[in-house]
Amino acid sequence: MKFVHVVGARPNFMKIAPIMRIASKCDNIEQVLVHTGQHYDNNMSKCFFDELGIRKPDVNLEVGSGTHGEQTGEIMKKFEKFIMEEGGDIIVVVGDVNSTIACGLVATKLHIPLAHVEAGLRSFDRRMPEEINRLLTDAISDYLFTPAEEADENLRKEGIPKEKIYLVGDIMIDTLIWEMGKTPNLDKPLFEDIELGKYAVLTLHRPSNVDDKETFKGIAEALNTIAREIEIVFPAHPRTQKRMEEFNISFDRNIRIINPLSYKDFLRLYKNSKFVLTDSGSIQQETTYLNIPCLTIRENTERPFTITKGTNVLVGMKKDVIVEESLKILNGTQKKPLGMSLWDGKTAERIVKILNANL
Ligand code: UD1
Repeated sequence: MKFVHVVGARPNFMKIAPIMRIASKCDNIEQVLVHTGQHYDNNMSKCFFDELGIRKPDVNLEVGSGTHGEQTGEIMKKFEKFIMEEGGDIIVVVGDVNSTIACGLVATKLHIPLAHVEAGLRSFDRRMPEEINRLLTDAISDYLFTPAEEADENLRKEGIPKEKIYLVGDIMIDTLIWEMGKTPNLDKPLFEDIELGKYAVLTLHRPSNVDDKETFKGIAEALNTIAREIEIVFPAHPRTQKRMEEFNISFDRNIRIINPLSYKDFLRLYKNSKFVLTDSGSIQQETTYLNIPCLTIRENTERPFTITKGTNVLVGMKKDVIVEESLKILNGTQKKPLGMSLWDGKTAERIVKILNANL
């Protein structure tokens, strides 16, 4: 049986790693790994392969950056050509990036079964490119592997037959548990000059936050106010670094701006922090799992269970709310996570077992 796995952008790598690791133990499965090249900088791509033990991709389509249409179209053209030569019994796509929908469309049109890992998440905000990618990928997938009951419900409401939906748990947590098990020094500070628990961590890269000058300036003002109380470490995404220059956004000296970190270094950074400010999707889950307070700088989230059952608080983009919620944490208020079922590090096992039994 030939599994063709697709990765393209940073958040895909930690999702494919556990699936490939488990599938490699099955004698009947041959694996092919395709990197679309959506992300190409070393610290956005290659360093994750090295750390997470993902083997070198069989092919890199080298599509690079572009508008959504250019990027999606280019991936489709190149992936279709590759698959027409290579074939495959199942194509596995993960998450919600442009590579996910582009390769999903190619699979479906070539009548190759499609598996979507992390299916069913919805922010209900169709201005987010990821929301369109999620909706469309789920609509054409044959196997929809979901992380939480809420995702199953979303899919059922959209009319997806329940036979296609498999609640398997959160694949990101597989990688988190695996990394924590093999890395002994996670409780050592990443920077010698910052004390454990005495700093906050920030990530920011959503187009809705950083591509609009006024919105980005407003968020920066909030962060500069918080930085008077606590140092903030900010690994800045390339998109964000470009916008900072373009919009001339200045940050307080107590905000330490660094380049994007590898998986392990970033884990060390946020695991030992006081709290996290982010607009990322997966970080909302990882902080919930590790019981670290998380403030999400967005109007909505496709992971509402991190709010109802976890440590996440949605703070939007308004300066006052971002500052107020940060101060609450600094003053000792902290949500207690209730725990998520199936966040047990065995999601990849369940996925491979289901595919093995059904294909
Ligand atoms: C993509 C995903 C987003 C995910 C994010 C994680 C889509 C629609 N968005 O957003 O869901 O949360 O990845 O990082 O797929 N760039 C570099 N080097 C790189 C990659 C990008 O410099 O290795 C710069 C380029 O200027 C590029 C910009 O970052 O134009 C944005 O990259 P792109 O892949 O379009 O989307 P992301 O914002 O990274």
